[in-house]
Amino acid sequence: MSYPYQYERCLDMDQGDSTQGRGEYLEGFTLLLSLTEACGAILIILVAVWTGYYRNGFSWRSNPQLEFNWHPLLMIIGLVFVYGNAMLFYRIRRNVRKRRLKLTHAGMMLFIVLLMVIALVAVFDSHNLNRPDPIPNMYSLHSWVGLTTVILFCCQWLAGCISFLFPGLQAPLRASYMPLHVYFGIAGFIGAIASCLLGLNEKAFFVLKNYSEFVPEGVLINFIGILLVVFGGLCVYLVTQEHYRRLPRPEDDVLLSG
Ligand code: HEM
Repeated sequence: MSYPYQYERCLDMDQGDSTQGRGEYLEGFTLLLSLTEACGAILIILVAVWTGYYRNGFSWRSNPQLEFNWHPLLMIIGLVFVYGNAMLFYRIRRNVRKRRLKLTHAGMMLFIVLLMVIALVAVFDSHNLNRPDPIPNMYSLHSWVGLTTVILFCCQWLAGCISFLFPGLQAPLRASYMPLHVYFGIAGFIGAIASCLLGLNEKAFFVLKNYSEFVPEGVLINFIGILLVVFGGLCVYLVTQEHYRRLPRPEDDVLLSG
C-alpha cells in the first residue's frame, strides 16, 4: 500500500460524503460491511426474541428473574453491536471531518458504558434479590472474563478521551499511544464476544434441562452464538484491513489539535 499515491488521489477526487468518495476502490469492503450490519441486526433481533419470548420478557427489581433478561440484551447491543460499529466508524463515515468522527466515536463508547452499567446492575440485582436465597456473585468463569472486559473497556475509553480529545497533549505522544489504543480496542471487543459466548453457554445449561434434545430455545441460543462469532470476525477483519483504513485528509492535522 502506498499512502502518498492514495493521498494524491484523495486530493484529486470529489470530496463528497459517501462511502465510495475520493476515488477509493471499496466495493468489496462495502459488501462485507453490509453483510456485517445484516448479521448485527439479525443478532439483536434474535436476542430480543430469546429474552422477550423464551425467557418471558423484562421487568426491574420487582421481578429479579425477569430483570436478568436486560443483562444479555443490553450487553450484546452495547458491547457487541455498538462497539463493533464504533470501531468501524472511521471507515464507515470515511469522508466526515476527523474531529466529528472522534467526538462521535467517543460518544458511542460513552453510550456503551451506560448500557453496560444498566446490564451489570440487572445481573447483580438478579443475584442479590433472589428469594429465598441470594445467589453468590462473581463465582463463574463468565463473570471473571466479563468483569475483566468491562474494566479493560473503561480504561481504554478514559485513556482514549485523555489522549485524543484533551487539547493540551503533544502530537507525538498521541501518535505513540495510537497502536496501543487500536490493540486494546480490538482485544476488548474480542473479550466481549468471548464473555457473551461463555454467558450464553452458561445460561443454556442453567435453564434448559433438555438442551441435548435440540429443543427450539437451545437451537436459538446456538444460532445467537454463531452470529456473535461471525459478526465479531467480520468486524475484526474489516478494522484490521490496511486498504480499508480512512485516508488522511488535508485538514486532519489542524483538527487533531483543535
Ligand atoms: C460482554 C458481555 C458481558 C459481560 C461483560 C458480562 C458480565 C457479567 C458479570 C460481571 C457477571 C457477574 C454478576 C454476578 O456475579 O452477580 C455476569 C453474570 C452473568 N451473566 Fe454476563 N456478561 C456479558 C454477557 C452475557 C450474556 C450475553 C449472557 C447470556 C445469557 C450472560 C449471562 C450471564 C449469567 C447467566 C450470569 C449469572 C451467573 C454468573 O455469575 O456467571 N452474560 N455477567
